[in-house]
Amino acid sequence: MEILTTAAALQAHTEIWRRNGQRIGLVPTMGALHEGHLQLVRAAARECDVVVASIFVNPTQFNNPDDFRLYPRLPEADAALLAPAGCTVLFLPQVAEMYPRPTVLQVDFGPLERVMEGEHRPGHFNGVATVVSKLFHLSRPHRAYFGQKDFQQVAIVRQLISDLSFDLELVAFPTVREPDGLAMSSRNRRLNVEARALAPFLYQSLQRAEQLVRAAELPPAAVSATVADLLAQVPGLELEYMAVVDAHTLQPLAEWDPARPVALCLAAHLGDVRLIDNVVVER
Ligand code: PAJ
Repeated sequence: MEILTTAAALQAHTEIWRRNGQRIGLVPTMGALHEGHLQLVRAAARECDVVVASIFVNPTQFNNPDDFRLYPRLPEADAALLAPAGCTVLFLPQVAEMYPRPTVLQVDFGPLERVMEGEHRPGHFNGVATVVSKLFHLSRPHRAYFGQKDFQQVAIVRQLISDLSFDLELVAFPTVREPDGLAMSSRNRRLNVEARALAPFLYQSLQRAEQLVRAAELPPAAVSATVADLLAQVPGLELEYMAVVDAHTLQPLAEWDPARPVALCLAAHLGDVRLIDNVVVER
């Protein structure tokens, strides 16, 4: 596995791969890698000839300076995990390499970003769209791998690919969980012992909500309220939002449409750590 730190070096590799007819897989990450990330890399290695994984803690997508400052950074350990997972090139740029000049571009994803993460983290998806576009241009992937764990991010990137005609296939990979159900996340490293013990309640409450959706006896608002009540009993856990949305449009549901998949999405604070999770109820 090669480690590249400059945009020019990555572009030079991309050019050669493309000329040789090799299929390029891209796995963008912010590092502090866990099994969820590694499964994306392994899938890319199975389906592509070369795999570029990027590690870049992207400042423009953090609306909270402490979250950016405290975000775990472990490049050496990450590199040691990526090579055996089948990564060909690790792209590990500095901030000045990705943003030689301050960015001014503003993108607006309309209703897709007026809900959930977009609503609660102003500017977040502007930063995601900017950095993901840069990574697409530099690595020119045939396939780009994203996790369903960040459900809204997948919808935003799908729209980005469509609106800007990026010639690539988006692969949305199912959420990888710990044995107790907690969705794997780089931020889990920051949970203390007590918070880690409580964190599985998030997924448990989503599973309860899924049962309620399938039963369809309660309206969507009552399902959200049930989850809020369940989580209100967990000491030290503060629910930021619980949303019951159409899985395609991401818009909140007023009533059930049995023909359309539903996404149940939440964000919560455990101490000073913010976690998100979701469950999609297919029909
Ligand atoms: P990061 O949080 O590091 O996640 C990198 C990729 O791994 C994302 O596509 C994310 O959805 C996926 N992922 C994270 N946890 C997962 C899990 N438990 N199961 C499956 N996939 C998981 O998402 C970002 O970084 C950034 O926003 C990025 C796209 C790199 C742009 O900066």
